[in-house]
Amino acid sequence: MEKKMGILDYETVALDDENSALVIIDQTLLPGEIKLLKLKTQKEIWTAIRKLQVRGAPAIGDAAAIGIYLAAKEIQTDNYEEFVAQFNKAKDYLASARPTAVNLFWALDHMARLVYQLPNSSVEDIKRVLRYEAGAVKADDIRTCQRIGENGLKLLQPGWGILTHCNAGQLATAKYGTATAPMYLGQQQGYNFKIYADETRPLLQGARLTAFELYSAGMDVTLLCDNMAASLMQQGKIQAVLVGCDRVAANGDVANKIGTSAVAILAKHYKIPFYVCAPSSTIDLDTPTGADIVIEQRAPEEVTAMWYKEPMAPAGVKVYNPAFDVTDHKLITGIITEYGVASGYYKRSFRKILPPHVLDNFSK
Ligand code: MRU
Repeated sequence: MEKKMGILDYETVALDDENSALVIIDQTLLPGEIKLLKLKTQKEIWTAIRKLQVRGAPAIGDAAAIGIYLAAKEIQTDNYEEFVAQFNKAKDYLASARPTAVNLFWALDHMARLVYQLPNSSVEDIKRVLRYEAGAVKADDIRTCQRIGENGLKLLQPGWGILTHCNAGQLATAKYGTATAPMYLGQQQGYNFKIYADETRPLLQGARLTAFELYSAGMDVTLLCDNMAASLMQQGKIQAVLVGCDRVAANGDVANKIGTSAVAILAKHYKIPFYVCAPSSTIDLDTPTGADIVIEQRAPEEVTAMWYKEPMAPAGVKVYNPAFDVTDHKLITGIITEYGVASGYYKRSFRKILPPHVLDNFSK
């Protein structure tokens, strides 16, 4: 009998060449239903990113690389200038889907640089290059997460209790996740971690996605409400916090899912190491500090109505619903990248660990 596919057997994002479509798991339906969506138009791709049907910084980048390739494929001209004009229009449109995760802009700029470097190539050849690169961005995401797993695991010890917030798991990347990569690798090597997943109000990425994927992988995972972390820390049950991020500023300040900075403050109080797992594509040296990061504000209904049979707040009440917050670099023990772990004076540390081809992408 054929084994039933589990959530980790599905690709978070994929390119369907035959149907010219971006294929994603609709993450808004998890964990109840695993439904694949085939997105063909730019509007469908934009909406899927906006509605968090595909989400998590690296996965958004992977989806954007495929999305802009699909847009380029549809452009009907042999003229380079006309091609670039239409390409840029599609790029600006996709870039407007969400403002905080820098991987969206990183992926679009990465694809655009190739186009700008090929003014003497035929449009057909440029499309071929973009097709190749859309696959390469995703393959690179997988290798990057593997290396974050290796670099992160060196900082952890068998039997530790590890707290995570939101979903920086496989569902937020092409595979393995960022914050979850050391957990998955540890599981293979018998580390017997006890993972604690914050439910992550208001959209419940921790409950619906992190708990789902780690539980499916047979890990020891315990779900808690966001206001319960201090109680666990007080009891000595947490030895490390691992989170992902949406953008790392040049000074090491980190934007991640709302609530992350509260966890970092708690970790500092209880002297628990607080690590941020960040692919280099999430590091934005052109953003000087966390105060310069645009924080996405989302609809009030996500707080007041979304998970309830009846609205649970008075109609018309004012709602504060930022999707992200900024964790001060002083609260961060280390930023785990695929190239090593940055710490201390982050400005200098990034220059030390990041290779020239990464540093070259920044103006400063
Ligand atoms: O709003 P989301 O679900 O896209 O937010 C995701 C997060 O905050 C993740 O922690 C972050 O993108 C890192 S994913 C490896």
